[in-house]
Amino acid sequence: MASRSSFSVACAVAVMAFAILATASNAQPLDPHFYDKLCPAALPAIRKVVEEAVAVEPRMGASLLRLHFHDCFVNGCDGSILLDDTPFFTGEKKAAPNVNSVRGFDVIDRIKDAVNAACRGNVVSCADVVAVAARDSVVALGGPSYDVHLGRRDARGASQAAANNSIPAPTFDLDRLVSNFASHGLTVQDLVVLSGGHTLGFSRCTNFRERLYNETATLDASLAAQLRGPCPLAGGDDNLAPLDPTPARFDGGYYGSLLRSRGLLHSDQQLFAGGLGPTDALVRFYGADPEAFGRDFAEAMVRMGGLSPLTGSSGEIRANCRKVNYY
Ligand code: HEM
Ligand SMILES: *[C@@H]1O[C@H](CO)[C@@H](O)[C@H](O)[C@H]1NC(C)=O
Ligand SMILES: *[C@@H]1O[C@H](CO)[C@@H](O)[C@H](O)[C@H]1NC(C)=O
Repeated sequence: MASRSSFSVACAVAVMAFAILATASNAQPLDPHFYDKLCPAALPAIRKVVEEAVAVEPRMGASLLRLHFHDCFVNGCDGSILLDDTPFFTGEKKAAPNVNSVRGFDVIDRIKDAVNAACRGNVVSCADVVAVAARDSVVALGGPSYDVHLGRRDARGASQAAANNSIPAPTFDLDRLVSNFASHGLTVQDLVVLSGGHTLGFSRCTNFRERLYNETATLDASLAAQLRGPCPLAGGDDNLAPLDPTPARFDGGYYGSLLRSRGLLHSDQQLFAGGLGPTDALVRFYGADPEAFGRDFAEAMVRMGGLSPLTGSSGEIRANCRKVNYY
């Protein structure tokens, strides 16, 4: 009896040790040099398409940055946001935070084609394409550069429910923003510095209407007056307003806006109430020091880009970013 139970314990230990070893040899850290030998032409090929797209339409840089964020916050940075709906699963594109809102899929397709041509084959994952395109977009619009850690593989499925539940909403108060970021292993500082992504791009009226008509206590009166025309009480849902005064320049303008009660989204202004809270202090700090913002943003992007990647033999390298290789 005793010997039998210690044998089962020994077996269980052996099985567990094997499982841990197998996982350890399969999981692999992301690595900035992942494509150095596999395809040295990959990163320049991505940058070229991003630069062209941003030159044609600066907002595309903002859209590509946001695409990476919305990819990483749903089951990790695994390219799942790029998958079209199929009879087998409903993807993330029509999820509440994404529908009529996320953009850049055509540019990702063009990058993938260019990178497959440059590498003479299907070498670079779609998840890595999105991560590098986000960095190149930031750089193209005057922001900091950083080494993107690489070697992500692509998911073989996507989840609309996860997209609905995992991406923070602009209606969130500070506590929900903080707990959402914490659920992804990100800190309050990450929340404040990554929200600085709103130094780029635009929001639709539907996402800031409440603020114009119901939150006048925390909204600068002249900005409210200026935006009520393009964003009336009813209608005009898709009309755009810039998230900061310089939506095509990666600068500290976003934090300056928050300091003057000119945050466009409810979630933006939640980071600065003018008091002694920890996020208030960070907004003051980044507002006064755009270079510190750039440095910390770059570091936080690497952390966000490291969320639950598929590596080793998990997932696949998708040939077409919109669909899995086989069913
Ligand atoms: C903290 C929680 C966040 C919330 C609640 C939030 C919410 C939003 C909303 C509602 C929009 C406008 C979408 C539309 O009207 O179609 C938007 C745009 C944008 N967001 Fe966020 N966001 C957050 C964090 C981030 C982060 C972490 C990044 C990147 C690091 C980011 C980058 C962007 C960019 C660049 C745009 C403009 C996109 C464009 O013009 O196409 N956001 N965000
Ligand atoms: C996600 O949200 C959208 C829009 O609110 C809704 O239509 C859809 O049913 C939701 N999907 C799931 C799987 O919860
Ligand atoms: C403002 O708040 C009231 C009460 O909560 C709500 O009924 C109304 O729909 C809100 N207005 C807008 C424009 O969201």
